[in-house]
Amino acid sequence: MLVVQRLDGRIHDRAGFDCGEPSLNRYLHELATQHHRAGVATTHVLVENTSPSAILGYYSLAAAQLSLGELTSADRRRLPRHPVPVARLARLAVALGEQGHGLGEALLQDVVKRCLGLRAELGIHALLVDALHERAAAFYRRYGFRATAADALTLYLPLGNAGQSKP
Ligand SMILES: CC(C)(COP(=O)(O)OP(=O)(O)OC[C@H]1O[C@@H](n2cnc3c(N)ncnc32)[C@H](O)[C@@H]1OP(=O)(O)O)[C@@H](O)C(=O)NCCC(=O)NCCS
Repeated sequence: MLVVQRLDGRIHDRAGFDCGEPSLNRYLHELATQHHRAGVATTHVLVENTSPSAILGYYSLAAAQLSLGELTSADRRRLPRHPVPVARLARLAVALGEQGHGLGEALLQDVVKRCLGLRAELGIHALLVDALHERAAAFYRRYGFRATAADALTLYLPLGNAGQSKP
């Protein structure tokens, strides 16, 4: 069974992960644990529960804010006139041999579920993502993410009002 676990260097083989994007590999290999400890970003990994050392995919999340002008005028309605609190999906990657089998979508669903859970404790209006390139942006657009005003590769997904939105 596939499970999402908080990154733990004693269990998960960070060095063995390869998604084909050097910057995303390097982050997991060298920085994710350090950032997690420092409260800069949290990282969760997708593994098979019977062989948890092999990381099939991962994502990193951090707190962020988005200025009101970045939202579409419809999304801006009824919001206070100051930057809105968001969660930044700082990184998302699936291992090369596992891509195209729904794991990216499963990770994204887990991110949204986690953010909706966090909303019981902290305001999170939307999920923000910096897509590495147009191909990645196309992946996010499939799930309702829309481009911010400033940058087509910076996208956001409003999390809805009732805490029930799903990608
Ligand atoms: C982008 C990435 C996370 C997608 O994960 P994945 O497991 O390969 O994607 P899934 O199998 O869950 O795909 C879900 C759906 O999105 C589609 N999709 C996948 N990648 C896509 C892309 N780049 N553009 C548009 N659609 C895409 C799939 O066709 C699938 O749709 P379908 O069910 O109708 O066939 C993964 O390919 C990856 O890690 N790539 C390298 C690193 C990277 O670019 N990360 C993004 C950083 S911002």
